[in-house]
Amino acid sequence: MCNFAFSTAHSTRIDNRIDMSRLTILGIESSCDDTSAAVITDGILRSNVIASQSVHEEYGGVVPELASRAHQQNIVPVVSAALSRAGIEPKDLDAIAFTRGPGLLGSLLVGTSFAKGMSLGLRIPIIDVNHLHGHVLSHFIRRKEDDEVPEFPFLCLLVSGGNSQIILVKSDSNMEILGQTIDDAAGEAFDKCAKVMGLPYPGGPHIDRLAAEGNPARFKFAKPRMAGLDYSFSGLKTSFLYTLRDQLKLNPAFIEENKADLAASLQRTIVEILIDKLDAAVKLTGVKTVAIGGGVSANSGVRQAVADFCGSRGLKAFIPERVFTTDNAAMVAIAGYFKCLRKDFCSYDEVPYARVTI
Ligand code: KG4
Repeated sequence: MCNFAFSTAHSTRIDNRIDMSRLTILGIESSCDDTSAAVITDGILRSNVIASQSVHEEYGGVVPELASRAHQQNIVPVVSAALSRAGIEPKDLDAIAFTRGPGLLGSLLVGTSFAKGMSLGLRIPIIDVNHLHGHVLSHFIRRKEDDEVPEFPFLCLLVSGGNSQIILVKSDSNMEILGQTIDDAAGEAFDKCAKVMGLPYPGGPHIDRLAAEGNPARFKFAKPRMAGLDYSFSGLKTSFLYTLRDQLKLNPAFIEENKADLAASLQRTIVEILIDKLDAAVKLTGVKTVAIGGGVSANSGVRQAVADFCGSRGLKAFIPERVFTTDNAAMVAIAGYFKCLRKDFCSYDEVPYARVTI
């Protein structure tokens, strides 16, 4: 097998570097339907290129096979653009970080294989990144030297289409899940409720937009009554569905006439569920810093609620730029940077995984 020889050679090259503080990492993200590449030097972002795939719109969700094919088409131009926007040549790279999982296997294979090929060609190490670590560590991406980053330990509310977790982040490599959803993720609750309202996929951003014009107190939906720090969104989803079903019998134009209030009330309920458990986690841990991440952290209601929650309790809040909430390679590059500092490289035998936890 070649992997041992290559890993050792590359590791040695890094070990021999006199100045480990000038590390330039290329990040590659291809876990779902965004092809992205980014360059980071010493934690400072030099480029972040994202090609989204519109091919899925007509299907109301991501079609894995189409996603893989689109990644194949996008990966070379996206990586080239990331390098040229960063103003560097491939030879200037020290390592390549790629998302190994979780995600769609066919999509992950494109990024993984590309990273391996490029690494072999350039004779530099590859670093496998857990996509979820990327979301958590996205708060360490800096645009300039004096940008503030969180101090360990901190709590991260990670809310996306596939996850709703409260994570105690003890270091860049030591993360403990304190609570997580036992059924749907927060993003699924947004998307599935939006779908029954007839909104396009993904529905979260549409709910967000409509909610800005609605009355959040107009409708009451079920909230889970569970002890501990785990989340549940399936009851809310059913309650939302039943409200629509009952009201549509009385008025077929119910959704159309009430869509802003429905969206605002749904968003308020999701936000309250998220904040309740976050509050409990802060009390349990005594941690003074709270961060949010994942696609749902782009939501205006979630962002405002977390900022207010932290403000009222004297906690430091880290709310990511919207570009770092959804899938992006900048977060993969920063997670790779941390691993590179620890010389935690991976071998060419590593394969993508569809499911993984923190
Ligand atoms: O992290 P992400 O891009 O994908 C994964 O799940 O890996 O998250 C996608 C989720 C979708 O459910 C989408 O509806 C939701 O994030 N989302 C939002 C908003 N923007 C994206 N949900 C509510 N409000 C938003 N503004």
